[in-house]
Amino acid sequence: MRVGVLTGGGDCPGLNAVIRAAVLKGEQRYGDSFVGFLDGWLGAIEDRTTPLDSSRVREIFDKGGTVLGTSRTNPYKVEGGSERVKSTLAAEKVDALMAIGGDDTLGVANKLAGEGITVVGVPKTIDNDLSATEVTFGFHTAVQIATEAIDRLRTTSESHQRVIVCEVMGRHAGWISMYAGIAGGAVDVLIPEQPFDVAEVCELVKSHRALGRLSSVVVVAEGATPKEGSLSLTSGEVDQFGHVRLGGIANVLAKEIEERTGFETRATVLGHIQRGGTPTAYDRVLATRFGVAAIDALHDGGAGTMVALQGDRIVRVPLSAGVSEPKLVPDQLYDTVARPLFG
Ligand code: F6P
Repeated sequence: MRVGVLTGGGDCPGLNAVIRAAVLKGEQRYGDSFVGFLDGWLGAIEDRTTPLDSSRVREIFDKGGTVLGTSRTNPYKVEGGSERVKSTLAAEKVDALMAIGGDDTLGVANKLAGEGITVVGVPKTIDNDLSATEVTFGFHTAVQIATEAIDRLRTTSESHQRVIVCEVMGRHAGWISMYAGIAGGAVDVLIPEQPFDVAEVCELVKSHRALGRLSSVVVVAEGATPKEGSLSLTSGEVDQFGHVRLGGIANVLAKEIEERTGFETRATVLGHIQRGGTPTAYDRVLATRFGVAAIDALHDGGAGTMVALQGDRIVRVPLSAGVSEPKLVPDQLYDTVARPLFG
């Protein structure tokens, strides 16, 4: 079988480990050959490829980013895009496609599957917000990076007796903020699922200080919004999947906290540091399991599915299930685990 592989959407630590595992297992077990499409769906539209074989991928397990490049291109938003993808697959003699991405990339894969393309999906996002899989690779790495950053922010916060607002990624879901906030001992964690009251945040900071604690780090997800209206700053730019670029809520919140509490306050936006660099061991292993499972799926009737982690097992779910509702932080988890730690 000749398999085309692409990575789409925001990059994510572990993408290369998926590619490596799929190619090594495919070559050894099934005698497959592979071709990589460059820059996500864009390369599939424009027929831009790179050779993929075991010698190319063997050493990439610990490399951040994606050796295939990525983009947020949506073939269904490009004139003749999906037809051009199909022409490319025919020209490259590709029998099956492996699409590694988040809900946008997998949404396109799902549509192509509906149009007769043999495709398997591998879920990816640092945000951990894909339904049907308990964890996405990249999430663990992002939490680790954010936690290390919060640890560092706590010591400088204490030295200067400042409040620091640390903004982490998370457009719709607060998984990174909640995990890193808990692990890093945050005074408060603000997530998109729980609109926050700025006055309550300030009260928590003040009570924290009243206890004699000087290191006050508030963790906020980029998509968090206050109850009384949005403090989030957006550039207004929208990508081909309709997502507005976020970022900037920490600066607004820091100014607000300083004005309301009188404590000197600074903002730190972690941004793409959370997505770059080498994956943790956990993410390398999860990504490897997904890559192996995806190539198996193409050979034993699993086309049209996405591989997923459920419990400690890798399972297959319909591609449509992976791209349905985003997986949000449940109220119960936030209320029982995170909230009691605040202040
Ligand atoms: O891939 C998901 C994500 O990291 C989100 O958390 C974030 O909002 C977005 O990507 C940023 O996208 P970009 O790299 O295109 O600015």
